[in-house]
Amino acid sequence: MATSSTNFKEYGQSQYWVAPARNFRTSARLHLQHFLIQNTLGYLLEPTVEKSVAASQALKVADLACGNGVWLTELHSHLATLNITTAQLDGFDINPINFPASAYLPAGVTLKKLDILAGTLPPELKSIYDVVHIRAFDSVIRNAEATKPILSAAMELLKPGGFLQWEEMRGDNWVVEVPSPETPGVACRTISQVLKGALQAQGIEKDWVDALDTHLEAFGFRDARLLVREKRKQDWKAWTEDYLMVWEEIAAFFPPKATKPDAPMSREAWVDLFAKGVKETEQGVVVHQGKIMTAIGQKPI
Ligand SMILES: C[S@@+](CC[C@H](N)C(=O)[O-])C[C@H]1O[C@@H](n2cnc3c(N)ncnc32)[C@H](O)[C@@H]1O
Repeated sequence: MATSSTNFKEYGQSQYWVAPARNFRTSARLHLQHFLIQNTLGYLLEPTVEKSVAASQALKVADLACGNGVWLTELHSHLATLNITTAQLDGFDINPINFPASAYLPAGVTLKKLDILAGTLPPELKSIYDVVHIRAFDSVIRNAEATKPILSAAMELLKPGGFLQWEEMRGDNWVVEVPSPETPGVACRTISQVLKGALQAQGIEKDWVDALDTHLEAFGFRDARLLVREKRKQDWKAWTEDYLMVWEEIAAFFPPKATKPDAPMSREAWVDLFAKGVKETEQGVVVHQGKIMTAIGQKPI
């Protein structure tokens, strides 16, 4: 197990992301997730957004909560194929630990430490971006209401007429599929239910992800729409590996029996359940989150 501490850590949204445990393993998982998302979507910039901004001589793109910056560095390569070589591509994240060294970043890509939810943005960044991109931020958002601070940041950063592009998956929904009736997937299904129950118990809701376009619209973005893409079957095993890494990591949020004997799920029980889940995946059981939603909206002119 990656987690051997006997301490029990309460889950806190952005605190989770600045913890020392968000290290190379998290980054490796995010790299894998990036390429799996690309296999699903087939675009970095959604085609109508790309068409609208591709002629811009001084294209500026911001990626909020950019993680290791892989979306931006890949966007740089893609833009080069369109002969766009002068774009300014800025990534912002609360935790810079997984940023590549600037010496290895392509020209035009800059990554900076910034708490995007702090409520104050550097004035020089306001109203300058053609596109603001957000991806996989749901773990930081408790419910529909909590989408507002990041929507507000996106709105402030965009130029009038600029586009917000936001991709998410339902972080409370793990679809368990079995290759044949002989491999039942009981442990993986139990894990999926335990996690869903734990989120509900903490009042964390994810239904906003399925209606993300309506939240953009209600916030004042124009022409908001939602594109939905199913994950590819041939990627299900790799998605499973991605989620197993998360499930292994979150053992830290279940208290050891000795600390909280009455907890509904002790760390020991979780570790045991996880080991059984891994065995099932070795028999071909897969876990994935079904689909990826892309919400697009435009800042009014
Ligand atoms: C699931 S990762 C997604 C990273 C990246 N968007 C991607 O798709 O690869 C969530 C990211 O949100 C960042 N984050 C969490 N809270 C933040 C905040 N308040 N301001 C900026 N970044 C934040 C984390 O540090 C982490 O890199």
